[in-house]
Amino acid sequence: MFDALILRQQDGSTTAQVETLSTDQLPQEDVLLAIDYSSINYKDALAITGQGKIIREFPFVPGIDLAGRVLESANPAFQPGDKVLLTGWGVGERHWGGLAQRARVKADWLLPLPAGLDSRQAMILGTAGLTAALCVMALEQHGLTPDSGPMLVTGASGGVGSIAITLLHAAGYEVAAVSGRQSSHDYLHQLGADQIVTRATMQQPSKPLESQRWAGVIDTTGGNILARALAETRYGGCIAACGLAADHRLETTVMPFILRAVTLQGIDSVYSSKEERKKAWNRLAKTIPSKLLDSIANEIPLTNAADTAHKLLQGKLRGRTIVRL
Ligand SMILES: NC(=O)c1ccc[n+]([C@@H]2O[C@H](COP(=O)([O-])OP(=O)(O)OC[C@H]3O[C@@H](n4cnc5c(N)ncnc54)[C@H](OP(=O)(O)O)[C@@H]3O)[C@@H](O)[C@H]2O)c1
Repeated sequence: MFDALILRQQDGSTTAQVETLSTDQLPQEDVLLAIDYSSINYKDALAITGQGKIIREFPFVPGIDLAGRVLESANPAFQPGDKVLLTGWGVGERHWGGLAQRARVKADWLLPLPAGLDSRQAMILGTAGLTAALCVMALEQHGLTPDSGPMLVTGASGGVGSIAITLLHAAGYEVAAVSGRQSSHDYLHQLGADQIVTRATMQQPSKPLESQRWAGVIDTTGGNILARALAETRYGGCIAACGLAADHRLETTVMPFILRAVTLQGIDSVYSSKEERKKAWNRLAKTIPSKLLDSIANEIPLTNAADTAHKLLQGKLRGRTIVRL
């Protein structure tokens, strides 16, 4: 028997409660895992609170991230005792996820735990870390280097934003952080932000082209903030757009594209290739010291996951929240 956070539908709204299940209630997949840690991402918060149409079939176990040990495997690629992590592939959205002490998953979705990380550290990074690393890699593949100029990171106090700042700072970039919280300024400077831009400034409607400020941008917010970031990006610059914390819409003009050769690069972590994931995880494992990881982590038990999901959407959390199973 094991504990799991179970989402159900009641009168059109989503309920979330910890329940005890047996392993034969898990979906039929080839690897049975004991989960050590999961985490609460923005998408998990939308799923748990029912504020986003993430989950279509109930009852459901949410959790897009997990790290743990193999208990049984019908696939020769994994043996009992192997330490593994899983992010994305629709787990926690269409397949039962990581907010449980046990999961059955496809071997294809698993990665061995990267050298240098334990399962707690892997979950401090989680989907947010993977996404931040994919964004940085995309900007570098575009040709940007620390000599290109300053980088802007939006939604800076959040999971993706916090880790993006640490990765950029470690690689020698000058970093500007966009935050709506005065109380986060010290935290953001400690992560490596050189300057803070207020969210209110970035939310101002922009002209099609503004003064050129940023060589590159990692945007987790969408909406007006992304529109202004586009208008402020320097000639030949690149924006890695991965989120919608402010708005899923984007009202802009073609001017940054046709007059400044700006690139808007979409980033998806859920179905990114295994090769890209391995590169991203290696970079995360090598770059971020364990002390810094601890400084961005809040750890909670499973029983607090539902409350925490509400707090995340209210903008009351900062950094990464991991769930101890
Ligand atoms: N494409 C992908 O594969 C992928 C993967 C992971 C996440 N995402 C997306 O990336 C976004 C961030 O994810 P996360 O896990 O980092 O979330 P998070 O931890 O909740 O961080 C979001 C941050 O955005 C800022 N923010 C919140 N509400 C805002 C608003 N209304 N307007 C402007 N800024 C706002 C806040 O930072 P401040 O208080 O500092 O302003 C907040 O901490 C989400 O939209 C998520 O869905 C996408």
